[in-house]
Amino acid sequence: MQKVIVLDFGGQYNQLIARRVRECNVYCEVKSYTTPLSQLASEKPIGIIFTGGPSSVYDPASPQVDPAIFELGIPILGICYGCQLMAHHLGGRVTAGTEDTAREYGKTDTFFETDCKLFKGLDKEGVTWMSHGDYMEKVPDGFSLVAHSAACPTVAICDESRGFYGVQFHPEVNHTQHGTDMIRNFLYEVCGATGDWTMGDYRDTAVAQIREKVGDGKVLLALSGGVDSSVAAALIAEAVGKQLTCVFVDHGLMRLNEGDEVEAAFKKWDINFIRADAEELFLGKLAGETEPERKRKIIGEEFIRVFEAEAKKIGKVDYLAQGTIYPDVIESGLGASATIKSHHNVGGLPDYVDFKEIIEPLRMLFKDEVRGLGRELGLPEYLVMRQPFPGPGLAIRVIGEITKEKLDTLRLADFIFRDEVAKAKLEDSMNQYFAVLTNMRSVGVMGDGRTYDYTLALRSVTTTDFMTADWTRIPYDVLDRVSTRIVNEVPHINRIVYDITSKPPATIEWE
Ligand code: XMP
Repeated sequence: MQKVIVLDFGGQYNQLIARRVRECNVYCEVKSYTTPLSQLASEKPIGIIFTGGPSSVYDPASPQVDPAIFELGIPILGICYGCQLMAHHLGGRVTAGTEDTAREYGKTDTFFETDCKLFKGLDKEGVTWMSHGDYMEKVPDGFSLVAHSAACPTVAICDESRGFYGVQFHPEVNHTQHGTDMIRNFLYEVCGATGDWTMGDYRDTAVAQIREKVGDGKVLLALSGGVDSSVAAALIAEAVGKQLTCVFVDHGLMRLNEGDEVEAAFKKWDINFIRADAEELFLGKLAGETEPERKRKIIGEEFIRVFEAEAKKIGKVDYLAQGTIYPDVIESGLGASATIKSHHNVGGLPDYVDFKEIIEPLRMLFKDEVRGLGRELGLPEYLVMRQPFPGPGLAIRVIGEITKEKLDTLRLADFIFRDEVAKAKLEDSMNQYFAVLTNMRSVGVMGDGRTYDYTLALRSVTTTDFMTADWTRIPYDVLDRVSTRIVNEVPHINRIVYDITSKPPATIEWE
C-alpha cells in the first residue's frame, strides 16, 4: 500500500492534514520531525508533508529537518511553517512579517497560478485560511511563485522539477476553499497516488492479519456499545469467530433499549457474547452517592470487577482486544493536563486479566474511518453513527443521588429528545446531545392541579474535538416540540430548560 508521511512540527492542525490525505484514499501516518531520516526513507513514502508549527525557522531552537531529506527524490509539500522550513533550507530567506507586509491571520483572498500542478483545475481566485507571522522574503533558486495575496507576494511556491511545493496557508482547514482538492492534486498529480486506501481493502488486510496473529488462540474484548469497541468486536468476529468472547457489562446506566440493541447487533456473528447483567449491583453500590467523582470511581471499579469475574470464567485468554484509535495514539505522550474529570474509559482494562498480548486493530484509524469500517462490516447505522456516550452512562446525567425511578424518567425524556432531533434531521449539526435530570424541583400547574416536580435540562453541543464546544442553536420549534412532548409523556417532569453555556467555562456533561 502506498504511504504518505506527515512530518509533525507541532502545528495545531496536524491530525487534520492526515485526515484529509486519508479522505483522498491515500494512507498516511503522522511522524515526529525527530524521526531519523533513515527510518523515514525506509518506509518508502510516495510523498512527505511538512506540517505547520508555532516556531520561526530562523530561531536556532526551532524544529528542523535533516537537509538530506531534500535529496531523497520524494515529493514534499510544506504547509505554513513547513513551507518556510523548505525555503530556509533550500536557499530562500524567511523573516518576521509586519502588519502591512505579510503577517496574515484568518480568511484571505488569494490568487493562484493554475498552471501549477497543486492548483490544477481550480479557480484562479479563492479564500484561504492564513495563520502566519513570518514570511518568505526571498524564494529559493529554482522555485516559482504560484500564489499571492494583497499583503503577501509569496503565498505559494513550487519547484515542479523536484516535486517541492510550499503554501503559507492551511489547505487542511475547512475555511480554505478547495483545500482538499489542493491536497488531492499533490497526492495524485505530483506523488502518483493510486488511491489504494479504502475501508474494503483495510478490512480484508486486517482480517487476514488478525487470523495470522491469533492462530487458534482466544481473544477477549470488553464491549461498551460505543463505536470503537463495537467496530473492533465486529472486525475480530469476522476474523476469528468463536475464538472471540465479547463481554458487555450492562450496568443499567444505558439509554433506552441500548443494551438490547447492542446485543442484537452482534447476533449475526458466531461469537461468544456475554451480557453481564449487573444493574442491581451497580445501583446498589451507587445508592446514596451524590458526588460526581465518587460515582465515576465506583462505576470504574465495579466495571472492572464484573469484567474480571467474567474473564475468570473463560480462563486463560491469549489476547486482550481494545478499540484504541489513531487520535489516542497521536495524543498520548503530549504531557499531562489538569484533571477536570477522571474519565472512566471502558477501554482501559485491568492488568490482572491473564493474557499474553494486546490486539488493537483500529490503532491506525481515525474516527470517521472507524465508522466506515463499521459500515463495511455490516454494523447497523445507529451503532456506527452513535454519538459519544460516557463510560459512567446516565449516572452522571442524573444529578445527585441515583435511583432506578430517576434513571427511567431520564431514559424516557432523553429518548424523546433524540427522537425529535432525528425527525428534524438535525443530527449532523449536533455532535452530542442528551437530557440531564437535575436535582431541582419546582412548582407547576397541570390540568387544574399544582405539581411539584423535576426540572429537566437539555444539552447539545457542536464541536470537533470535545475539548472545546459551543452550544447548538437548535431551532425554537424543535425545542418547543421536545418540551411539549416530554412534559406530556414523562411523569415527574414539569419544567424544561435548555443549557446555553459553551465549554469552557462549562463542561459538556453536567457532572
Ligand atoms: P466533558 O463533560 O468533560 O466531556 O466536557 C467531554 C467528553 O467526554 C465525555 N465524558 C466521559 N467519557 N467517561 C467517559 O468515557 C467519563 O467519565 C466521561 N465524562 C465525560 C463526554 O460525554 C464528552 O463527550
